[in-house]
Amino acid sequence: MAHILAVGGGKGGSGKSFVCANLGVLLAKQGKSVLLIDLDLGTPNLHTMVGVDNPKIGLNNFINKSTNDLSRTAVPTKIPNLYLISSTRCSLEVSNLYYVQKQKIIRAVLQMPSDYVILDLGAGTTYNTLDFFLSAHQGITVFTPEPTSIQNTVQFIKAVYLRKLKHILKQDGFTRIMKKIGYETEDGAVRSPLDIVENIMQMEPERAQMLQRELRKRDFRLVLNQYRKQVDEALGKKIEKVCNRHFYSHFTFLGNITYNERIFESIVAKSVFAEKYPYTPTCTDLKNITSTLTESAPYPSSEQEQHVQI
Ligand SMILES: Nc1ncnc2c1ncn2[C@@H]1O[C@H](COP(=O)(O)OP(=O)(O)O)[C@@H](O)[C@H]1O
Ligand SMILES: [Mg+2]
Repeated sequence: MAHILAVGGGKGGSGKSFVCANLGVLLAKQGKSVLLIDLDLGTPNLHTMVGVDNPKIGLNNFINKSTNDLSRTAVPTKIPNLYLISSTRCSLEVSNLYYVQKQKIIRAVLQMPSDYVILDLGAGTTYNTLDFFLSAHQGITVFTPEPTSIQNTVQFIKAVYLRKLKHILKQDGFTRIMKKIGYETEDGAVRSPLDIVENIMQMEPERAQMLQRELRKRDFRLVLNQYRKQVDEALGKKIEKVCNRHFYSHFTFLGNITYNERIFESIVAKSVFAEKYPYTPTCTDLKNITSTLTESAPYPSSEQEQHVQI
């Protein structure tokens, strides 16, 4: 079973696709087989980040059932060991996948024979995006130092968290309690996850503890991209601390990725940044993040496998 990484975040343009592509390149250069999947279904562009011009096959072939083998929809990239499943040929309707189609994709992703599968997700908090994010062993949220990006990141994390929480609450026993508590407060506001857990705690402490244990099994990784000198170096750590205080899951800040003008040049030239500019501070940052990711959980443990959510 492949180790699945998903890269998401509330805001477009924060560098999700850039991070996916370059983590993929660096892992492939370590000799790992890596499959990148572009799941930004309405607006795909991961192929350009890895220098693939016009993928002839892709996710569309799996969705329209011309093949049932997802691995056959991958194309090689210029980098040995690095493959891509693109969604450039998917129809426009595909950005609103049916539930069964999403399930089928997630099941197939879990069976991929690569060492690593990296899912590049679109911006925003559609159910498709949240469920793809939750299907991964490690979910990475990429944001920039701009307040708008941080706001959207917090919204994204809340949405993922609430989706996970609701998934657990659908199970036996919780539906009855949730009918009493309600997902909304008396004044019509959506209850925060913390509020829901605290309410359950008052009514049925044992069940609340079980819920907390389930939520603790989720790990979130945070990456601050487009880092510049003027930015507080500890910003990412501060956000990690706030998230760890407000959610029952575990948040780990993986590091800053330095802003670099050459990224623009490399994208325009359709070359791969980490290959073209390996001796830049930005590439060093990417290498450090790659090491932390591989060291923290090189392969899914059997316990993690059980909790991959579909
Ligand atoms: N570290 C960085 N330094 C400078 N520019 C960056 C950096 N990361 C991303 N970019 C720029 O931001 C643009 C958007 O990145 P992209 O990965 O497409 O964002 P997303 O996938 O989140 O929408 C890229 O085209 C690139 O020009
Ligand atoms: Mg993108």
